[in-house]
Amino acid sequence: MIATDDLHAPQGESPAFDLSAYLTQQAVLVEAALDRSLPLTYPEKIYEAMRYSLLAGGKRLRPILCLASCTLMGGSVEMAMPTACALEMIHTMSLIHDDLPAMDNDDYRRGKPTNHKVYGEDIAILAGDGLLSYAFEFIATQTQNVPAERVLQVIARLGRAVGAAGLVGGQVVDLESEGKPDISLETLNFIHTHKTGALLEACVVCGGVLAGSSESDLQRLSRYAENIGLAFQIVDDILDITATAEELGKTAGKDLQAQKATFPSLWGLEESRRQAQQLIDAAKAELEPFGERAIPLSAIADFIISRTN
Ligand code: IPE
Ligand code: IPE
Ligand code: MG
Ligand code: MG
Ligand code: MG
Repeated sequence: MIATDDLHAPQGESPAFDLSAYLTQQAVLVEAALDRSLPLTYPEKIYEAMRYSLLAGGKRLRPILCLASCTLMGGSVEMAMPTACALEMIHTMSLIHDDLPAMDNDDYRRGKPTNHKVYGEDIAILAGDGLLSYAFEFIATQTQNVPAERVLQVIARLGRAVGAAGLVGGQVVDLESEGKPDISLETLNFIHTHKTGALLEACVVCGGVLAGSSESDLQRLSRYAENIGLAFQIVDDILDITATAEELGKTAGKDLQAQKATFPSLWGLEESRRQAQQLIDAAKAELEPFGERAIPLSAIADFIISRTN
C-alpha cells in the first residue's frame, strides 16, 4: 500500500528542506551537550559566570555548522559534538571579552546583561579565559571514535583561528580603526575575515577534518566558509543599523556611535546587502559538487543573509 504522503512527492525529488525545523533540532542537541559539558563545581563563582554566558541562548550557528559539515563528509554527529561545543565556548569567550568596557563596552548580550555587568570585569575576563582553555581540553579529552591525528589537526586549526593570526588579530585592527572613517576596503576586509571569518571557517573545516575529508574537499569547504564568514559580519553590521535591540538581544546602533569601520559605513546599506548576497551565492556554488547531501549547508548560507538577529 502507498502512503498518501508519498503521492505528493514527485519521484526523484526530495521533499523541501525545512531549515527552521533543522536549526531548532540541531540547536536542541547542542544546548543539551553544552549544559552537560560544564558542571558547577568549586569555585562556583567562575563556573556560574562561564555557564551564565555559555547557556544564554544564541543561534548556535558555529556548532551547527561543524555538525553539518562533519555529517556532509560522512562523519557522525557524535564524532563532532565535543568540537562543536568547544567552538561555542570559544565564541562565547569572544563575546564576553568583546563586550568589556575596554573593548565595545556593551551592556546587553543574548537578551541579558553582559557578563561583566553581572559578575564584574575581573570575573568576566577570567570567565572568558576559562572558556577558552576548557574548549581545547574538552576536544582533547572528549572526542571519541576519531583517529588522534585528526583531533590534533582540529586543535591546531582552532588555535590558529582564534589567535593573533585570526580572531584576536581582527579584533585588534577593529579597535585600531575606531574613529577612522577613511580606512581602506582592504583593512575592512581584514577586520571582518579575521574577527569573524576565521572562527566560522574553522567550524566548517574542522567538521570535515573529523570526518576524514580529502584535502581538496577541505579546500572546497574552506572556500564556502570564507564566503559565509564575510557575509555573516556584513549582515551583523547591517542589522546593527536596521534591527531593534529586542530583535538582536544586544544594543542596536552601537557601530555608528563608536565610529566603527563597517561595510554600511563604507558602502551604504543597499550595496552592503548586494555584496553579502554575492558572497552567499559564491558559497553555495562551492557546494554544488556535493549534490543533495549539502542541502543543510546551502540552507544555512541562505539563513545567514535572511536572519533578523
Ligand atoms: C555575534 O555572533 C558576534 C559576531 C561575530 C558578529 P552571533 O550573531 O553568532 O551571536 P549569537 O551566538 O547568536 O549570540
Ligand atoms: C564581534 O564583532 C566579533 C567578535 C566577537 C570576535 P562585533 O563587535 O560587531 O559583534 P557584536 O555586534 O558586538 O555582536
Ligand atoms: Mg567588536
Ligand atoms: Mg561588539
Ligand atoms: Mg556588530
